[in-house]
Amino acid sequence: MPSRPRTAVVTGAAQGIGQFWAQRLATDGMNVVIADLSPGDETVARVTAAGGQAIAIVCDVTDETSVQNLRDEVEDRFGGTDVLVNNAITYAQGSLLKLTLKDWRKVLSVGVDGLFITSRALVPSMKERGWGRIINIASNTFGLAMPGMVPYITAKGGVIGFTRSLASELGACGITVNCIAPGLTRTEQSAQALGASGMFERIAAMQAIPRTVKPEDLVGALSFLASDDAAFVTGQTFVVDGGLVRH
Ligand SMILES: NC(=O)c1ccc[n+]([C@@H]2O[C@H](COP(=O)([O-])OP(=O)(O)OC[C@H]3O[C@@H](n4cnc5c(N)ncnc54)[C@H](O)[C@@H]3O)[C@@H](O)[C@H]2O)c1
Repeated sequence: MPSRPRTAVVTGAAQGIGQFWAQRLATDGMNVVIADLSPGDETVARVTAAGGQAIAIVCDVTDETSVQNLRDEVEDRFGGTDVLVNNAITYAQGSLLKLTLKDWRKVLSVGVDGLFITSRALVPSMKERGWGRIINIASNTFGLAMPGMVPYITAKGGVIGFTRSLASELGACGITVNCIAPGLTRTEQSAQALGASGMFERIAAMQAIPRTVKPEDLVGALSFLASDDAAFVTGQTFVVDGGLVRH
């Protein structure tokens, strides 16, 4: 471990699962930067209430200038980035013929372009330090291939491909690149959107561990992948879904 605290940038952490990633990395002793289109004040408050260190920077991961500003602010405040969690997403659901090209581009832009843009901006700082962790958030839907989710599942397949290829580029620099693929997780937002549909219960019944995934079930995988203990794990996808997808 270095003598200084490490710094983690978590995209899309103003709400949902991202808030829990941020809280866990802060509990692990890292400075946390919440990079989201929306103000991340609520996440900052949660982290600081638990004794952690966090700041929020409004940032659009699809915009290079915005991400360069993020990088510069993180440099000024904490001296650089050690851990990048690519978590931001936007959703567009519906069958192929109902979706528009705009819907498709929106999901691919946040879900895939975002990884390229943030990694290009933040990897130089990791290279300089000879240590880094990139953790990309995929989804178990890539293994389930559900209908009505073509842009999202395509993006998540892209996340896995991006991870594998970038892992090969960066392994010699002390930087690992991995994915976490959660199952359908109950957050405030997903409960609002899907709570009445019976979807949580139907999916839980198919899992080896038959209960709905909570964000707290996911964070242990992140903590491990961001740690020194995971130094020899790279290019991998950890499915954390109670055993729904079994490879
Ligand atoms: N919730 C689930 O059931 C579930 C299941 C599997 C995988 N995942 C994955 O977990 C991650 C988090 O999902 P969630 O459901 O908590 O998401 P969410 O929709 O609750 O939050 C996404 C966040 O990303 C931010 N965001 C959107 N576009 C952005 C942009 N251009 N730049 C910066 N921030 C942007 C939003 O403002 C929001 O705060 C995603 O990668 C998602 O695909 C979620």
